Parts: sequence; structure tokens; C-alpha cells
Amino acid sequence: MTAATVDAHHIWHPYSAVPGPRENLRVTAAKGVYLTVGGGQLIDGMSSWWAAAHGHRHPGIIAAAHRQLDVLPHVMFGGLTHDPAVELTGKLLDLTDDALTKVFYSDSGSVAVEVAVKMALQAQKGLGHPERTRLLTWRSGYHGDTFGAMSVCDPSGGMHSLWEETLTEQVFAPAPPVRGSSAAEQDAYLRTFGDHIDGTVAAVIIEPVVQGAGGMRFHDAALLTGLREICDRHGVLLIADEIATGFGRTGEVFATSGAGVTPDILCVGKALTGGVMTLAATLATDGVADAVSSPAGGGALMHGPTFMANPLACAVAGASLDLVASGYWRGTVPRIEGELDAGLAPLRDVPGVADVRVLGAIGVVELEQPLDDAGMTAATDAAIDQGVWLRPFGRLVYCMPPFTCTSDEVAAICRGIRAAVWTAVPR
Ligand SMILES: Cc1ncc(COP(=O)(O)O)c(C=O)c1O
Repeated sequence: MTAATVDAHHIWHPYSAVPGPRENLRVTAAKGVYLTVGGGQLIDGMSSWWAAAHGHRHPGIIAAAHRQLDVLPHVMFGGLTHDPAVELTGKLLDLTDDALTKVFYSDSGSVAVEVAVKMALQAQKGLGHPERTRLLTWRSGYHGDTFGAMSVCDPSGGMHSLWEETLTEQVFAPAPPVRGSSAAEQDAYLRTFGDHIDGTVAAVIIEPVVQGAGGMRFHDAALLTGLREICDRHGVLLIADEIATGFGRTGEVFATSGAGVTPDILCVGKALTGGVMTLAATLATDGVADAVSSPAGGGALMHGPTFMANPLACAVAGASLDLVASGYWRGTVPRIEGELDAGLAPLRDVPGVADVRVLGAIGVVELEQPLDDAGMTAATDAAIDQGVWLRPFGRLVYCMPPFTCTSDEVAAICRGIRAAVWTAVPR
């Protein structure tokens, strides 16, 4: 069997049937912002789904991986610890300015969200509120594909219809008003958001400033201040899912800290390791940890993955966070933002394009009509012809380039997006 046959007939790819709608491109290497595909090179306009924020195989990260591989690639975390976890924790706490003080490591973003939910429910028990068992979120969110995470994804777009009988019923407020809405609209929204909190709500969970896979929608940071106040008023915990937005993507270390807001629980993943290993973390305040650790809270956080705090992944993440701490991206992300803005502007008035929006190193073109499989293939191929790897879905053609992209590379990504959009809109 050829590699293409094995891939097409025996391997499941994300959100796909077997065989899938198109042959998957075979990537043989990656370096910097480039993927090597079939003898040619494509710019990874997606940072491999937000993860490779500093480009692929960044020398500092790869050196850390090699060092750790030769010493201790893995050891169980129950009853044992190691330097990579301890050092990474110090770096994570520094990035939160010590507002969050406890870290739980897991293997993926979805699991980090599961852990956050567990923490919130156990903490509410510990605080004397075992009746607070549900989560409140706003629509258009995405938090992952495990069952707890799916239960707080957008109920119309988030595959809920497949799982109606299985998913925990959570509480949904309308999607947040988009970036640039008036202060009056935002105030009105926040007033009604608070009305959703009854005695059964334990925590509010949201993606701050950018709702990712649920529609790539942006909202104003001011809403986060309002949510924080509402949560405090009702004794409800605030969970910020910064798995996509964390570590510089929006131009701030975290979208919450950029808004001057400290969540009670913070989920990070994706760019945590610079896209080299799978690792995620759920951070919490002392208050949450104390409540979980109290007898009424269960006495211990009841989670413990086999590969928890994998030393290789922690060492890699430590090197990646050194790059975040260096702050180099504070120069490149605003530049990329300006270049995406200029490069995507010609699409604003194109019939069939509903909206063009840019924030930090994120560029989004929203179409009026969703792409079907054939449309997605044509749009993807059009970008590939321009030397760019994109992964359009639904009504969205979008990019989140590595922070190391040069101006020429951002210009190429914009050409790729323009080409993809031109194939997708009726002419
Ligand atoms: C905001 C957010 N939360 C959670 C997840 C799930 O992370 P993972 O795919 O690592 O499980 C994602 C992934 O796209 C995400 O964007």
C-alpha cells in the first residue's frame, strides 16, 4: 500500500470521514514559517492551529528538547517531580504576575478545560455551594472536543445536535456584542448576562476577546471587566480559556491581563510549547485551590493523566516561554496586524464577503455563505497556488501566522487569502 492509500483509507483526520473529502498533503519537514510539502514549500499561515507561534523548529526550543531527551523524557508525576515542571511553573507564574499561583498540567487543551470545570465544581463544593453544578457561557464559543468541553461549546455550531441526550445541560447567554459595539450595547448585554446566573451556576467560562473555532468573533476587552464584576457579585468563578489567545497572539501576553482582569481559573495550551509537543495547563488562584483542597471540596483535585507534566514537554514549554518573556513579539505582532489589515482590506467591498477583521496576529475574512467540501478544497488549493497553507472552514477564510513572519511572508499570506476568497465568492 502506498502512503497515500494508508492515509486515505486507514487514518482518521480531524472532523473527517474515512476516506476524507480530499487527499491530505504530506509534510516531510518544517522550519521557521515553512512546511516542506512534496518538494515545495508552503508558508504555515495557521501556525499549525495557533501552536507554532515562533515558527517551526525554533533553535532554542529544539535545543531544549534535545537536552531533555537525553536525560529524562518521561516519568510519572504521582509522588515524583522534576526540574522541567518546577522551572516551567516559575515561568508561567511570572507571566501571570503571580495573580494565579497553582498549576495543573495536562496533555491537551480540551483536558485543560475538563480540569478547569472540575476545579470550579469542587471549589464551589468547598465554598459551601454543592448546588452550584452548572456552567454559564456565551454562544459562539469553542472549548474543545471532550464531553465536558463540548457541553460549553456553542449549542448550534458545536455538534450539540449529535449529543443532545449525552451532554450536560449548561446555561447559554447570547453571543457577546462584537468589537466596536457601543458602550450602551455592551452595558445592556452585561445586564442581561447577569440575569442568567441562578443558584445552580458555579462558574462562567469564556474565550476572552477572541472566540476562535466558534466563529472567529472579536469583542471588546471592556466586556471582561464587566464579567469579572458580575462573577464577583454572584460568587461565581470566572474561567478564562486562553488556549488560543494566550502568549502574545492578541498583542498581549494574555487577553485577560491585557484587559486588567484576573480570572479565577486560566486554561492555556497550543503555543505553550511553541507547537513542538502537546501540553496544556490549568492555572488557579489560591482561593480556588484552598476550596478544592478543603474536606468539603473533596480534599484533592481528582484528576491525574498518565503523561501529566511530561518532562520533555515541560522543557520544551520552558524554552518557548523564554521567547514569550523576551517580548520580541511585542514588536512583530503589531506589525503583522497592520500588514494583515492592509493586505486584506481589498476584500472588504467584495460581494459575498460579509466582514474582514484583524486583531493582533489574527486575520479573518467572513463569507456570506458557508463553503461546502468542494468550495473548501478549491479555496485551499487557491491558497496553495500562492505558496500558503490555510484551512478555511464554514464561512471563514482566516490566518494566524507565526510571530516570526517577515513582511514579505505576511504579504504572501494575504495573497493566499485573497486567492482563496476569490474562488469562494460568486462572480
Ligand atoms: C479556545 C480553545 N479551547 C480549547 C481548545 C481545545 O484544545 P485541544 O485541541 O488542544 O484539545 C481549543 C482548540 O482549538 C481552543 O481554541
